[in-house]
Amino acid sequence: MFSIKDLDAKLREIDGRSYKAYKDIQGSYRYGDTILYIDYVQSDPFAPPSRVRVRVPMSKAGFPPFLYQDRRSIGLEDLLTRYARRSIDSFGKDQPSQKKTVMIDAGQQQVLKRSSCKITPDWVEIRLKVELPAAGRRILGRKAYEILGQSLFSKVEEAVVFNPKREQEMTEWVFLFEDQEKIRQGLQEMGLVAFVANGSILARTSGSSDLPLPVSVPFQSPPGLEVELATLHHGPIKGMGVPKGVTLIVGGGYHGKSTLLKAIEKGAYNHIRGDGREWVISSYNTVKIRAEDGRRIQKVDIRYFIDNLPGGDDTQQFSSLNASGSTSQAANIIEAIETGADLLLMDEDTSATNFMIRDARMQSLVAKEKEPITPFIDRVRSLYEKNEISTILVIGGAGDYLDVADRVVMLDSYRVFDVTTRAQEVAKSISSNRLSDVSEHLLEYRDRIIEKVQPKNSARDRVKISAKGLHTIMVGKEAVDLSGLEQLLDSSQTRTIAECLAHLDRYLDGRPSFKKLIDSIYADLEKDLDRATGFKPGFHPGDLALPRKYELAAAINRLPFLQIE
Ligand SMILES: Nc1ncnc2c1ncn2[C@@H]1O[C@H](COP(=O)(O)OP(=O)(O)OP(=O)(O)O)[C@@H](O)[C@H]1O
Ligand SMILES: [Mg+2]
Repeated sequence: MFSIKDLDAKLREIDGRSYKAYKDIQGSYRYGDTILYIDYVQSDPFAPPSRVRVRVPMSKAGFPPFLYQDRRSIGLEDLLTRYARRSIDSFGKDQPSQKKTVMIDAGQQQVLKRSSCKITPDWVEIRLKVELPAAGRRILGRKAYEILGQSLFSKVEEAVVFNPKREQEMTEWVFLFEDQEKIRQGLQEMGLVAFVANGSILARTSGSSDLPLPVSVPFQSPPGLEVELATLHHGPIKGMGVPKGVTLIVGGGYHGKSTLLKAIEKGAYNHIRGDGREWVISSYNTVKIRAEDGRRIQKVDIRYFIDNLPGGDDTQQFSSLNASGSTSQAANIIEAIETGADLLLMDEDTSATNFMIRDARMQSLVAKEKEPITPFIDRVRSLYEKNEISTILVIGGAGDYLDVADRVVMLDSYRVFDVTTRAQEVAKSISSNRLSDVSEHLLEYRDRIIEKVQPKNSARDRVKISAKGLHTIMVGKEAVDLSGLEQLLDSSQTRTIAECLAHLDRYLDGRPSFKKLIDSIYADLEKDLDRATGFKPGFHPGDLALPRKYELAAAINRLPFLQIE
């Protein structure tokens, strides 16, 4: 190991030389007890940035162990990346371009497990990307030392050495995270699938922003659905408990239906204090379902919803390169259930109408034998009663759904009312005249086993897989569109998914079922995100965040070279 003085000397030596000579500084450097690892050096000024880690021994970082015990470490790691982002923010500010020269992958409104900070009982490590400075293609060695030298050490230490002034904030942060997890774990036992606390702010400033709308009507549970949940650190919390079963969210246009559903959909994640959704908590296994025409489908058994397609296409092993609205929505449901979903969320706004409902008039005009689709309205009860899969639906127009609901809540000017009794009366007094499908077709699907994920068998011909922003994964030259995955939040999750796809064949030995495959990849990720990449020496994945199982599975299901046996 070198000392920081050696780094200084090396940078002086290569100052003014061609950019490639930067490679010489790869290695590790000590300053006091803190170590800088320069893992990867970019080959030219326009290449992806260099990657470094700064490791501070716990003897110096000095966190009280209660702050990082058990799963609290996820909360503390997330918070430290935010501190680090704040303290390195000034790097690059003096540049004419103001381009950031040191970057960390820190979170936004949610707390996610990330690879940008790692806490162990022995040390705390921060992982950064650095743009090594150049004039044209010449090394600016002095400038590089200004970034990588003492000032980087002191900025990282400022972020990750325990500061008693921050103790309260840190404690509140990890306690909030812990209580959110506790509520989520307890939902099942209380017979609930989701919880929305009174006082929550659900609306966002705009469609493209995840920040709370400043002037907004706070959530208040209708009395009949109000529950009180115990927490470890925040006393009892009151709010609306959504029980298992079939729940409708109804109400006029623009009254806030989709906003409530979206908050529940994001409630599978933990939000930071001040977000407004910190006490909106839904099941881990909440999956937003939508129509996604154009998606690829590989051998999914969609007979539960769709059978007897014209042209005799097989719906027990349904494949398509360009699915329709209804077939895509059916496949999205079956795949979610295959991975373990216990709560489906659907919004009329983003559903295929003919998948949701066939009303009396259509039933008499188009004979049953001519309609391959059994609409969701005829399956939703059986999904719950036979398979314990609950559904929350936003319904503005399809009143026939009143017949199948356990509960109906109505939004009126952003306020929620329990209108279940009234809805039942309406359903009784105004018949839908539909013939419901009474066939005892049970949900069944076969275990799918993956045959192949790459076009060729030889390692040499592997296709490169990489993430591009939040919603695209490039597989060779082909773009896989993930914009239908509304619960994918952060492009760092997409990067993790891309890494998993690239290393998928490591998990195929023993021919696991699709669900087993997802579970074993996921168990690895939960233990250590770095495993997604196989941690190549000289490369550190400092910009990964944990996706959910469902988004990981969805990406695999859309892979161009996926072959199911
Ligand atoms: N509690 C609230 N306070 C203030 N504004 C809100 C609140 N809830 C939702 N909004 C805003 O109201 C608008 C309409 O909300 P939303 O899209 O949820 O309506 P909707 O009932 O789904 O309408 P549609 O039936 O047309 O789909 C949005 O701009 C949203 O941000
Ligand atoms: Mg809507």
